[in-house]
Amino acid sequence: MSTLQNKVAVITGGNSGIGYATAEEFISRGAKVIITGRNRTAVEAAAATLGNGTLGITADQGRITEASRLAGEVEATYGKVDVLFVNAGIGAFVPVDQVTEAQFDETMNINFKGAFFTVQKFLPLLNDGASIILLSSVNAFTGMPGSSVYSASKAALNSLGRTLSRELASRKIRVNVVNPGPIVTPILAKAGLDEDGIKAFHKKFSERIPLSRPGESSEVAKLVAFLASSDASFITGAEYNIDGGLTIHELVG
Ligand SMILES: NC(=O)c1ccc[n+]([C@@H]2O[C@H](COP(=O)([O-])OP(=O)(O)OC[C@H]3O[C@@H](n4cnc5c(N)ncnc54)[C@H](OP(=O)(O)O)[C@@H]3O)[C@@H](O)[C@H]2O)c1
Repeated sequence: MSTLQNKVAVITGGNSGIGYATAEEFISRGAKVIITGRNRTAVEAAAATLGNGTLGITADQGRITEASRLAGEVEATYGKVDVLFVNAGIGAFVPVDQVTEAQFDETMNINFKGAFFTVQKFLPLLNDGASIILLSSVNAFTGMPGSSVYSASKAALNSLGRTLSRELASRKIRVNVVNPGPIVTPILAKAGLDEDGIKAFHKKFSERIPLSRPGESSEVAKLVAFLASSDASFITGAEYNIDGGLTIHELVG
């Protein structure tokens, strides 16, 4: 198992789903973890449950001033950072003719603009040799109806990862992108689907996924932990699909 012993790791959106599972995985590998989220009660409860000195900081990734404050608070506690996992994001799925400007701005502000400026504000804190992981989606390069804004916000992240892998290479900072397929997390409920809608969503995808099931947050967490560790020391500018084979096109059979 890749070690993260004594590494300082920041996870945005760490109170739930993939971010929370990654916090658990990082801690099990010896990291000191800072999680963020929008809701103070949820962030503090998650940090307390994670234990091991996990720091929970409330910060809205959709606001640049909060990214600056977050970086300042992390610097005040830990000084430097070894791993930045930019994971916070929202899903909003509506047909293109129903997308409002407010929905467009919210998704772009959190999923892309906020991710961009989170990386920017943390750059002075990152140790040379640090690892940045951006959480995108297979939606970044597929055409799921109803996902126009979400998919574009994620595609922008993949582009950012490629550019930053070269811009930051002189500091030996590695930048990689993870593209999950359907993973069981609270994100669909937050996007407005009821229990039946969520079951139908996962059933529909499971029929198309070669491994016949949605993924678990813990499975994504293990990939992120590998990319965060020195076992991935020659990997930068890469992107990894973790989707049970969903995006392998079925031509025949
Ligand atoms: N689940 C999937 O099938 C799937 C597939 C591909 C990609 N992804 C991506 O995976 C990432 C994690 O999602 P998830 O599935 O684990 O869903 P989740 O359980 O809803 O987790 C998202 C996390 O991000 C936080 N967050 C959302 N907006 C934020 C903001 N403005 N500022 C700070 N934190 C914010 C959430 O906090 P709150 O509790 O406040 O909402 C939560 O902690 C997202 O970027 C998502 O797009 C998910």
